[in-house]
Amino acid sequence: MSSRRLFISSILSCLLFGLFAPAQESGPIFDYDSLFHPVVGKKGMVTSQEVLASQVGLDVLKQGGNAVDAAVAVGYALAVTLPKAGNLGGGGFMLVYLAGENKTVAINFREMAPAGAHRDMYLDENGEVDKNKARFSYHSVGVPGTVAGMSYALDKYGTMSLKKLLKPAAALARKGILVTYSLSADITRVRKRFEKCDATRAIFLRPDGTPWQPGEILVQKDLAWSLKQIARKGPDAFYKGKIGQRLAADMAEHGGLINMQDLAAYRVTESEPVWGEYRGHKIASMPPPSSGGVHVIQMLNILEGFPVAEMGHNSAAGLHLLAETMKPAYADRSKYLGDPDFYDVPVSGLISKDYADELRKKISQETARPSTDIGPADPLPYESTETTHYSVVDQYGNAVAVTYTLNFSFGTSLVAAGTGILLNNEMDDFSSKPGSPNAFGLLGGEANAIQPGKRPLSSMTPTMVFKDGKPMLITGSPGGSTIITAVLQIILNVVDHKMNIAEAACTPRMHHQWLPDKLRLEKGISVDTLRLLESMGHKVERTDTMGSTQSILLKDGKMFGASDPRRPGAGAAAW
Ligand code: GLY
Repeated sequence: MSSRRLFISSILSCLLFGLFAPAQESGPIFDYDSLFHPVVGKKGMVTSQEVLASQVGLDVLKQGGNAVDAAVAVGYALAVTLPKAGNLGGGGFMLVYLAGENKTVAINFREMAPAGAHRDMYLDENGEVDKNKARFSYHSVGVPGTVAGMSYALDKYGTMSLKKLLKPAAALARKGILVTYSLSADITRVRKRFEKCDATRAIFLRPDGTPWQPGEILVQKDLAWSLKQIARKGPDAFYKGKIGQRLAADMAEHGGLINMQDLAAYRVTESEPVWGEYRGHKIASMPPPSSGGVHVIQMLNILEGFPVAEMGHNSAAGLHLLAETMKPAYADRSKYLGDPDFYDVPVSGLISKDYADELRKKISQETARPSTDIGPADPLPYESTETTHYSVVDQYGNAVAVTYTLNFSFGTSLVAAGTGILLNNEMDDFSSKPGSPNAFGLLGGEANAIQPGKRPLSSMTPTMVFKDGKPMLITGSPGGSTIITAVLQIILNVVDHKMNIAEAACTPRMHHQWLPDKLRLEKGISVDTLRLLESMGHKVERTDTMGSTQSILLKDGKMFGASDPRRPGAGAAAW
């Protein structure tokens, strides 16, 4: 089938089986009082930021694969169809709910600092952070974890062969994908960076050096080669074999740090998720080196003591309360969060209800506390923005939530020559210098200082909410520092404000991260509300959209999916 026909038929099947999936049974599936409606399914669902990849996952589910099989196929497909965030050259986190064992596990495939990394590696001769070196150089790259993470999950919890699951991605890379308006715009946005790297330019810019245009076909021949290598040899192709050799050679040629020893030393870890409770629901989310799970739970604990539903969704009082809740959480993040293999993160203290009680007492319902009055508190003795998230649920009751990333849109914008693989700039998520914010304005200290083998602190927050022991909500989002608050608001919108999952995704969001002391509001929150917030002392700022949540809600034996409308091309595929 030609690429164009493949694309069109995928879209058609999404329309037939996914985006407008008909109700399977009689009874009120849709509530006509609702402004927005989710996609409905019964046997399987994938929500992702790129609809072709959602369809790849759904096809796996229809072939009898489980949610982990589908998640692996989607992870590789997104590397081709959503190159700004889907990846082989980055890393991330996967939460897996195993229905048979009624167990949830957290898989960590975050990048690791190479052996040659050191604490002051981004400081210039004046002791200032060299932002270009930290973000756009061969020194910005952490040892990628995605290929290892996908295989770890598949070997332990999947049922299908890697070879089979890689096929759709390899075909999309080899035959090409239709360049959409959004892909063309994404490329245009970073064109200047692409021009600096021959390997990147050769793929993502036309032969005359201009960005690919909507309607053209983007073929990724080298990426197809890499996918074929992985299909043949498994993750060893990347960490010990030909892909690794090409990557290491490219690094050596450009003075980068990652060598074959670094690749061979890469390790995936598995742990318990971090668990919380909120109004009769159990919350499972990603533990450190993500800060996401800890702070979502910390903020829910604080909010549990307030009548959130009564205060009204996006009312001035409700937004004020959220901002005051977010500030101490992000202040704590700056001090206490880092890679637990290197730093003793006080997780149980931060997520304890007693600590939340203390923090809650400091919140005034009338006035905003200036961020300068707030510092990291003392939880002891209790213990690009272009990331992307996808959620999967299968016919067996299993669920998977994956958030993975290159950090910035297209990462460093450097492709390792001969591999087609874009390299991450995750090293910028470390704290290069205490008090110096990273690209998301986030501060950090000792806990997140650079060390060889350490993983940079993340905000990625793949999350599951359980009701009566069963998964009820699978969610997550990209958005750098705003990931944590986007996930928080999805949970509040569902649990407190009783929204359906499409409404929960569509409604305007807010964000506060302590520093800078700004209450960020999306469009759609009224000017009256904004003025009330200012009168309470908030420094309000209108922002671009925040997040791109990809969620599935399980209710009444059905699956309700919503791909955030904030980013074009996202879509739920349902069966
Ligand atoms: N690179 C964004 C994050 O991991 O939070």
